[in-house]
Amino acid sequence: MRKVTLIPGDGIGPEISKSVTDIFEAAGVEVEFEIENAGEKVYNETGELIPESLYKSIEKNKVALKGPITTPIGKGFRSINVYLRKKYDLYSNIRPIKTLPGIKTRYENIDLVIFRENTEGLYIGEEKFENEEQTSAIAIKRITKKGSFRIIKAAFEYAKANNLNKVTVVHKANILKITDGLFLDTAREIAKDYPGITVEEVIIDNMCMQLVMNPEKYQVIVTMNLYGDILSDLCAGLVGGLGLAPGANIGEDIAVFEAVHGSAPDIAGQNKANPLALLFTSIDMLKYLKENEKAEQIEKAVLRILEKGEVLTADLGGSATTEELTAEIIKNL
Ligand code: NAI
Ligand code: MG
Repeated sequence: MRKVTLIPGDGIGPEISKSVTDIFEAAGVEVEFEIENAGEKVYNETGELIPESLYKSIEKNKVALKGPITTPIGKGFRSINVYLRKKYDLYSNIRPIKTLPGIKTRYENIDLVIFRENTEGLYIGEEKFENEEQTSAIAIKRITKKGSFRIIKAAFEYAKANNLNKVTVVHKANILKITDGLFLDTAREIAKDYPGITVEEVIIDNMCMQLVMNPEKYQVIVTMNLYGDILSDLCAGLVGGLGLAPGANIGEDIAVFEAVHGSAPDIAGQNKANPLALLFTSIDMLKYLKENEKAEQIEKAVLRILEKGEVLTADLGGSATTEELTAEIIKNL
């Protein structure tokens, strides 16, 4: 049986992880989860944010499914999410955004994928105060040719493999001439190798407006770390919210699958969380593991429920609990 590391995470993490493991078990998925905890709870118990055994498990299994982890704002804590992406060089953060049946939104045909650079940009954590009074601070944004090249290449390869003829590169090179300029130049260079694919260059602020006005126009979006983070939540909002948006962090030989949303402390422990974002993430993980049959079986059950629109969680206007929706999916498998 294929082993996968499961990190339940903080906040709603344990509830939505249980939903996924219950559904996998009911569907007879040939995956055995090795549970490893990390985050706030582990820190409070052991003084360690990430236990050594978690690294060992990921390095052995090569594939992990991860719930959200709370990152307290303030000194002393670096995000575990950012840390894991960096440690395993998981440079592609891939976030598919698709209109779903039965979910009421302003748009009908959104089908795009965001490729977010995941290891550099403004997320390298190099920040400091510039004076003793701590009234002035700076953060460093690092863009490298290598880092830009591999994420942009991944986006073009995805477009090619899926017969898509446009890649949209999002930047702010008009202001950040050197850093964003390097990213943009790398994109122009790579584009030369893909004659069948049009490259569209859009400045980040305009992109936000375009995505709200005409999201159906986009297929593949590739951008730097911070812009990609922000656009992912924006795009999740276009198709029904964070409760539906899956994601994956992919490197050369390790992949960590996680939804776009965070630990949702406002609804944690209340049996209210929508497990579908993590479930769609798990379905993408099954496809990555070439378990296509089980992936499709679970996906079909979910789509059937969404179409009917009777059993939905509160974020989608319904009144079902996490457990009730999970049971309904199992019934429909
Ligand atoms: P969030 O994504 O946790 O929540 C934003 C809003 O969306 C909240 O109102 C929440 O209730 C709702 N929401 C999110 N997921 C939902 C779901 N599955 N079902 C129903 N409603 C859902 O973002 P927030 O509040 O900014 O961050 C909370 C914590 O999560 C922070 O500590 C942050 O650092 C962390 N975080 C962790 C991430 C990760 O582990 N990859 C990603 C984003 C944030
Ligand atoms: Mg985010």
